[in-house]
Amino acid sequence: IPVDPFDFIIFGGTGDLSERKLLPSLYYRQRDHQFSEPTRIIGTSRSKMSDEEFQAFAKQAISDHVKPADIDAKELKTFLARLSYVPADATSGAGFDKLKKAIGESDHIRAFYLAVAPALFGDISHKLKEHNLITPNSRIVLEKPIGRDLASAQALNDLVGDDFHESQIFRIDHYLGKETVQNLMALRFANALYEPLWNSAHIDHVQITVAETVGLEDRVTYYDKAGALRDMVQNHMLQLLCLVAMEAPSSMDADAVRDEKLKVLRALKRINGNEAPKHTVRGQYRAGASAGGPVKGYVEELGKDSNTETFVAIKAEIGTWRWAGVPFYLRTGKRLATRVSEIVIEFKPIPHSIFGDSGAGPIFANQLVIRLQPDEGVKQFIMIKDPGPGGMRLRQISLDMSFAQSFDGRAPDAYERLIMDVIRGNQTLFMRRDEVEAAWKWIDPIQNAWEGAKQEAQGYTAGTWGPSASIALIERDGRTWHESN
Ligand code: BG6
Repeated sequence: IPVDPFDFIIFGGTGDLSERKLLPSLYYRQRDHQFSEPTRIIGTSRSKMSDEEFQAFAKQAISDHVKPADIDAKELKTFLARLSYVPADATSGAGFDKLKKAIGESDHIRAFYLAVAPALFGDISHKLKEHNLITPNSRIVLEKPIGRDLASAQALNDLVGDDFHESQIFRIDHYLGKETVQNLMALRFANALYEPLWNSAHIDHVQITVAETVGLEDRVTYYDKAGALRDMVQNHMLQLLCLVAMEAPSSMDADAVRDEKLKVLRALKRINGNEAPKHTVRGQYRAGASAGGPVKGYVEELGKDSNTETFVAIKAEIGTWRWAGVPFYLRTGKRLATRVSEIVIEFKPIPHSIFGDSGAGPIFANQLVIRLQPDEGVKQFIMIKDPGPGGMRLRQISLDMSFAQSFDGRAPDAYERLIMDVIRGNQTLFMRRDEVEAAWKWIDPIQNAWEGAKQEAQGYTAGTWGPSASIALIERDGRTWHESN
């Protein structure tokens, strides 16, 4: 269904995010006929560039990041014709008059997408206000990181909050736009099967793994200052945890959902200095092998000494009636053995085996595995009788729901969904201010504990599953990480 006409203004229009995600995603929405006339896309950044040069940049971005079979010459032409470019400098304000002229007086939906460093959020927002560019129909989209701790997040939120109402602020966490992440809500709240079991009486523990094979990539300056705890756990991992753990919201209304997620964040048990060594593992990759070839260690890639973590494992606990005593084991890292993101819900073992020593074999606890990537799907592991006349032998099998097999067609990128939600004004999949701040409130003590105790990041060989301490973290409790394959 087409959305109303809109003006989409990309700050950082010639940057990496715009090139890899925003322009290709917007192109796909054009190709699928979601735009109404006159929708316009305006790129801006400090570089001088003509409209034609920006269109050429977009064309290249699309040819690099869209499958050739998905490029429709006619749609591409229409798409490129929507693009224009205005150079502007948020610090001095130069160029904002031109931007205002380019946007004109229309009362269409206006989305200002800030694909820039957070240090510029306040300046851009204030300059938009000063130049009367903010209309009631305007929205601002903020990319992570929203700060590096609670205080800096509050400061950023205050700055943008001076100019935009909270209902106009869209804080992106692209994990929320992933198909399977949304499916988690469907699985939990569109089926009667799971919810009665979704609590400490029936669930033994939860594992959330987001493993990457990539290393530092081109983000040296940002990443070395952030590290995996701020880069992945504060946002993506905690958002996944919230969707698993939250109570049923009364509806899909943005605030109904976000209220429930907030309650989970606030109920996370604080990990202080004494507990950090037992509840957290901080790692950094050393030279090893990944994707079939040798790779450098983090410090060599960086070119200087650093204690920044590229791996984190945490045993988190939620202090509520539903979750008391159910650990949530989180782990994420770069240069791990394989690229996989999944959530594992492990149910409690059966209370008593009727099979005794009859040779039936071990009985494994039921697991529900929700796989986000690379191949999206849901697997329910159950025990069955091994077919055949050999007596009662038990076997574990999985009931598989692979999305690629069950549904035709391309899985849209998270950004396509999220950009369209911005235009529709639907904030359900965006983080509210209090959520971001509650997440930092839980992260800060961990970060401080590490820094205070000078807790070294433990080395792990690139291409493995992280430091051995992360295995000990879960095995100490008599459990093991789910083996992804
Ligand atoms: C980003 C992080 O938010 O998410 C990156 O900054 C990370 O470090 C990326 O690589 C992972 O996203 P995805 O969608 O590839 O899992």
